Amino acid sequence: MDKRKCPIGVFDSGVGGISVLRELAALMPNEDYVYYGDSAHAPYGTKTLEEVQRLTLADAAFLETYQVKALVVACNTATSAAVGLLREKYADMPVIGIEPALKPAMSVKVHPRVLVLATPMTLREEKFRQLMRRYETEGEILTLPAPGLVELVEAGELSGEKLEGYLRELFAAYPAGELDCVVLGCTHYPFVRQTVQRVLGKRVMIFDGGAGTARETKRRLRETGLLNPQQGKGAVTLLSSSEGGAMVALERMLFEKY
Ligand code: DGL
Repeated sequence: MDKRKCPIGVFDSGVGGISVLRELAALMPNEDYVYYGDSAHAPYGTKTLEEVQRLTLADAAFLETYQVKALVVACNTATSAAVGLLREKYADMPVIGIEPALKPAMSVKVHPRVLVLATPMTLREEKFRQLMRRYETEGEILTLPAPGLVELVEAGELSGEKLEGYLRELFAAYPAGELDCVVLGCTHYPFVRQTVQRVLGKRVMIFDGGAGTARETKRRLRETGLLNPQQGKGAVTLLSSSEGGAMVALERMLFEKY
């Protein structure tokens, strides 16, 4: 079997990882992808560490049955909770995680004021603490957990009054002009980027880790000789743990149109 022709496995707690899949498919359109959203168990970010580790290992084991050549953990929460466990278990396969895009946000100006928006678990875990320590002398880093936002995206609330009301309340302590950047540290959040921008004002720069993760995936595939030699557009298979087809339909809408 030519391993290069196997698909890339991409997963998340739900539909959020589609924001990463879009970046992957834009950068490497000839690759085949299998996406798995664990919407039946979303959100992960408010669960215990042990639960998220168990669910993350189950997601990867499910994708393994599709003979994937690499795993992209398109979930900041699962990455912070379990990327080490995955790398141990799948030592012969590239395992690429995602982390909040703090680096580009910290370089927009001298001593920026940056707000990192993520799930409670991502902000609590050591992986993010380490990342924060690396940049803390370069500016002011504020963190804001957003419990409930993943649920809104999973429900397809990507614009409108309910979402805007939630975000206005969430950002109430940060009036316009007080922030330079916002880092979307959860892969669900890029789908509400426009409303975040409207609530915080045009001046605030917004970053997410999707494109960086796609570039890192390409680099790892090249390094391991696993880039697909096939020409043309690859196949994208969308799957969900949620039964009934509605979540796969939302994944497709987010992948194709959003
Ligand atoms: N998309 C996941 C992330 O990037 C959301 C986690 C959750 O389900 O709470 O963190």
